[in-house]
Amino acid sequence: MKKRILTGDRPTGPLHLGHYIGSLKNRVKLQNKYDCFFIIADYQVLTDHLSETEKIQKNIKEIVLDYLSVGIDPSRSTIFIQSKIPAIAELTMFFSMMVSFQEVKRNPTVKTEFKLAKERGRISEISYGFVGYPVSQAADILFVRAHLVPVGKDQLPHIELTQEIARRFNRLFTRVFPIPKPLVGEVPVLPGLDGKKMSKSLGNAIYLSDSPEVVKKKVMKAVTDPARIHPTDKGHPEVCNVFQYHKAFNKKEAKKIEIRCREGRIGCVECKRNLIERLNEFLDPIRKRRRYYEQRENLISQILISGNKRAQEEGEKTLKLVRRAMHLDYKQILHSKEG
Ligand code: TRP
Repeated sequence: MKKRILTGDRPTGPLHLGHYIGSLKNRVKLQNKYDCFFIIADYQVLTDHLSETEKIQKNIKEIVLDYLSVGIDPSRSTIFIQSKIPAIAELTMFFSMMVSFQEVKRNPTVKTEFKLAKERGRISEISYGFVGYPVSQAADILFVRAHLVPVGKDQLPHIELTQEIARRFNRLFTRVFPIPKPLVGEVPVLPGLDGKKMSKSLGNAIYLSDSPEVVKKKVMKAVTDPARIHPTDKGHPEVCNVFQYHKAFNKKEAKKIEIRCREGRIGCVECKRNLIERLNEFLDPIRKRRRYYEQRENLISQILISGNKRAQEEGEKTLKLVRRAMHLDYKQILHSKEG
């Protein structure tokens, strides 16, 4: 039996090159060895974007297209929508009794958000559901009894809580859950085009769905080594954002470009033109696959319906074990199998 992987994303917008380097690339590889489940975490969007629910549907579709276009293979991996899996909601309820209020308050993400909200005088906008989202994320992972969870470093506290919940459940009742391990890739961090963290809200990202023209425009505007004014000035690739992209997407030429930049033998414009070509070469097959699926809306729908179905079935199996372990199947008073 193959080991199970679960990971995923919130449907808050399109995925970018940072997502690709940091996680999607790895997911595509993991499909060869593991039974992979990819969750589109729409409940998690509700925890802090309740006023924009009308956008979720389109964002789900975009994420599925992003997944498929980079090579996530729906014949091997299960792509599904969190809110379509009743077991996740049910487990969240059970788990919420097994975690102390102290513990959720100590979660770094929850703590940071509390602090920010306090500073902005918006503490009353933090929902009960938001404070509990790490518990819900534990249910995302445990409902398929996953063994491995590929995530970024920022998610580690959530995985630790998940492990703690699994251990507690197993100790308190019967062993139902494997203790899931985080799989933290050596994330070669790709900066945004302005040198800050690549993020949707900062408008400094290149999306997997960007056209060649958009990629060109964005790269031409990217911030390079601020000490360089003339193309013959000696450059410092280690502080240049564009060079980080060469390292990630132009491995063959990166060394040569580094030397030429240091010696003032390549200007930023030429360097950017070169990168634009490499990025578009990288993105072209992704765009092609995206177009294939965009022209087949029914296929996307089928992929999601069958992904949801498989996840639901696995969830039901887990819930049965959980109810039995917790003495909540009430066999003596409910005589039907369905109970
Ligand atoms: N919290 C994750 C993020 O913001 C998304 C996510 C939801 C997730 N459920 C998960 C990741 C379960 C790993 C496992 O990126």
